[in-house]
Amino acid sequence: MISDVEVALELDDIQSGVLRPRPSPYAATYILLRIDDRAAGRELMKRLSLVVTSAAASQSALGDAWLSVALSFQGLKALGVPPASLAGFAWEFQQGMAARAGALRDYGESGPEHWERPLGTPEVHVVLAAVAPGSEQLETVLARGRRTYEALSGVTAIWRQDCHALPDEKEPFGFRDGINHPPVEGSGIPGTDPNEPPYKAGEFILGYRDEMGGLPPAPSPEVLGRNGTYVVFRKLHQRVAQFRAYIRSQTSETEDEEFIAAKMMGRWRSGAPLALCPLHDDSELGGDPQRNNDFRYQDDPAGYHTPLGSHIRRANPRDAKIAGEVRLHRMIRRGAAYGPPLPEGVTQDDGIDRGLMFTFIGAHLKRQFEFVQSEWINDGVFAGLAGARDPVVGAASSDGVFSVPRRPIPKRMKGLPQFVVTRGGEYCFMPGLRALKWLADLKDAEEN
Ligand code: HEM
Repeated sequence: MISDVEVALELDDIQSGVLRPRPSPYAATYILLRIDDRAAGRELMKRLSLVVTSAAASQSALGDAWLSVALSFQGLKALGVPPASLAGFAWEFQQGMAARAGALRDYGESGPEHWERPLGTPEVHVVLAAVAPGSEQLETVLARGRRTYEALSGVTAIWRQDCHALPDEKEPFGFRDGINHPPVEGSGIPGTDPNEPPYKAGEFILGYRDEMGGLPPAPSPEVLGRNGTYVVFRKLHQRVAQFRAYIRSQTSETEDEEFIAAKMMGRWRSGAPLALCPLHDDSELGGDPQRNNDFRYQDDPAGYHTPLGSHIRRANPRDAKIAGEVRLHRMIRRGAAYGPPLPEGVTQDDGIDRGLMFTFIGAHLKRQFEFVQSEWINDGVFAGLAGARDPVVGAASSDGVFSVPRRPIPKRMKGLPQFVVTRGGEYCFMPGLRALKWLADLKDAEEN
């Protein structure tokens, strides 16, 4: 029987990467594997079940360093998961990210036809993600991961992306990231916003009741889905020089670059929210986890402090009056920066690839990630902004507009270019540790 109040999560069966925010600072590596031989794939699952860290192992010898594993739908097929079990997975996951390009607004340059190979192809079967507080510990975790597949013929590493924290935990556009995380009932990990009640575990993990009061759809047998979740990996290229140049072009006597940038993000670069310091940055506040999420939007309905269309207000409208129920669209996010930072002040593109490996974690791909990406980031109707898109991460549009409420008339920023381009990604399932063993023990009909 599932309790209505606090649920005891089976932390020893849930992968660490699901619930624990990444260390700060961090170094991370993503490795993609292809399974060419079913038996080798099952052996890989067995080996991984011994090295993947659970959410209960908070005091592991490596501290904040861990390895996670997730599988694409094609990966589950390559392991020979029976059709009846495959059919129980979310339909969007079964399709894969490239097939969902329309829903995700991955058009034009962001279209799957331009993605970095092998991203978006049926070759992506397994995603290994290693994360650690520094490069030395990362190497130790990676070595553990490598031992599971290196000498295994029939499993091939096909892609790798290294990530590392930029100074002050900033993402490539220069804003502090990783500030806001939702609290999950039973996880023992506090949320970051003191005004936000914990979420039912079923919002983020299969096998538990969600905010709607039901259990999220899960595959059978129960062991396969329970304590697992969906993970979205997206490589997002950021046009930093173009972002800076556009901001510069929008300045006026009273509105400098920092002000414009803060209006677009909803936070100053230090992380200080406009809701708490609307006129100037306050780096102490920005770096103070006790205070930098302690705000609401209800006392700013018109967006004079935090524009309705700014990135953080769109991506989590908190208590703002919008069409819809905010709590049904929360996401666990983990962004990890890749590429070298563009030197301060440069507004000419240097041709170097930099951006974020964006990760979403949640039990409801469609109403969480896909909804936020299509309705909140790439449309504005929910907040009375007609079709306006997110000024920082929105998809391409020829007539991008961002409105900054101010008296007597709003500032209208026109001709917004696209600053973020999708380089590829995949929808994955991150199984619980017992499910990994179940996958390892799969047998073909003729073997029974
Ligand atoms: C390269 C692309 C992106 C960049 C540079 C970026 C940057 C940021 C930054 C700097 C913050 C503030 C720090 C924080 O609250 O943790 C933030 C918050 C957030 N972002 Fe993004 N982001 C990107 C893409 C996305 C996408 C694609 C989504 C959703 C589909 C998203 C959803 C969110 C959410 C939910 C928050 C938390 C807002 C809050 O709770 O106040 N972001 N982002």
